[in-house]
Amino acid sequence: MNFDEMTLDHLRDSGTLKWAAFPDDIGMFVAEMDLGIAEPIKKVLRDYADSPGIGYRSDAAKRALQEATATWLADNTAWAPRSEQVFAIPDVVSAARVVIDQLTTSGSPVILPTPAYMGFTALVPAMGREMIEVPSRLVDGRYELDLEGIRAGFERGAQMLLLVNPANPAGRVYTREELEALAEVVDQFPDAHVFSDDIHAPFVLEGEHVPYASVNDVAASHTVTAVAASKGWSIPGLKCAQLVLSNPEHEAQLEPYLGWAASITSTLGASATIAAYNDGGQWRAEILDYLRGNRDLFEQAVERWPGVWAPHIEGTYIGWLDFTEAADSGIVTSPAAQWIQDNCGVALTPGLACGEGYENYARIILATPRPILEQAIAQIDEAFGL
Ligand SMILES: Cc1ncc(COP(=O)(O)O)c(C=O)c1O
Repeated sequence: MNFDEMTLDHLRDSGTLKWAAFPDDIGMFVAEMDLGIAEPIKKVLRDYADSPGIGYRSDAAKRALQEATATWLADNTAWAPRSEQVFAIPDVVSAARVVIDQLTTSGSPVILPTPAYMGFTALVPAMGREMIEVPSRLVDGRYELDLEGIRAGFERGAQMLLLVNPANPAGRVYTREELEALAEVVDQFPDAHVFSDDIHAPFVLEGEHVPYASVNDVAASHTVTAVAASKGWSIPGLKCAQLVLSNPEHEAQLEPYLGWAASITSTLGASATIAAYNDGGQWRAEILDYLRGNRDLFEQAVERWPGVWAPHIEGTYIGWLDFTEAADSGIVTSPAAQWIQDNCGVALTPGLACGEGYENYARIILATPRPILEQAIAQIDEAFGL
């Protein structure tokens, strides 16, 4: 597949959020891929278009989704859950809301390592919960979870940690050792849980994806994991994701939500997901190669931007730009994302949406045709006088 083919005009015509929100700018602020749809998924959509109707999912179709998810995880990550542990949900964020509601005491705080995915920085306050932001620590240019900060959050009464792995926007693929160390901390608090959002698991650019629940029995017992083909194969609008329950008690605690969630999961989304997991391997391999190329291009560009730094992207197609030095020395004005949009015509995610203290940071989505990425980089180069 030629991922370079998609043009700016074509993308603007698509009318998606990323391209409609700022019609004069290059949209790089929402985690959507602009690289087309894998052929096996196109076939599913075409077949439905020619079918007698798009009905409810049969029991066989429900089992097929469970099996495809479990098999994909077994083949592509360090975890092999059983298919019966997989439950269909329409999307990750709405499921996180229910999981927080059902597994924690009403009103208890929720811990969020930052910089964090904006869906979660918005969700926790929207639920009326206190959000304990725990800024990740920069160690040798790499963001690491602040385990002492997380421990302090649980000591303050939090019962839930929202973990995103691979991390959006920090670009980390957490190692087994880091996750084991986290499990040791969480295990010290009998009411503590982890919601592990592994939606970016298909985008491990280097290393191996180790789902948190897989590291040991302790982690498995306090964790609910969410996965999806929605990011990996660019189908979030089809509304299908999956929860993987590694503790059977959570199944009882989450009923009747699980039955209801299965019934409101999109038939089309579930079929597309099965096609992605079962037949989308070659497309994913091609995408990963392409995204590694985009990442390398981006990281080379960042090196020449004055006062700007970004951590190396191990996973996801998301960059995290630190403009602190550029802002301190007056090269950009604050907030930095606004300066970039005003001066470069590139719309990034404002850092503050990812947590407190990140005013002069910005998130950038790199899953776009290379010529468009090159154009965005050229516009930023120009604003920096390069
Ligand atoms: C880490 C993370 N979780 C969840 C989502 C959204 O998932 P969903 O549409 O299934 O709620 C995104 C979308 O960008 C994401 O990056």
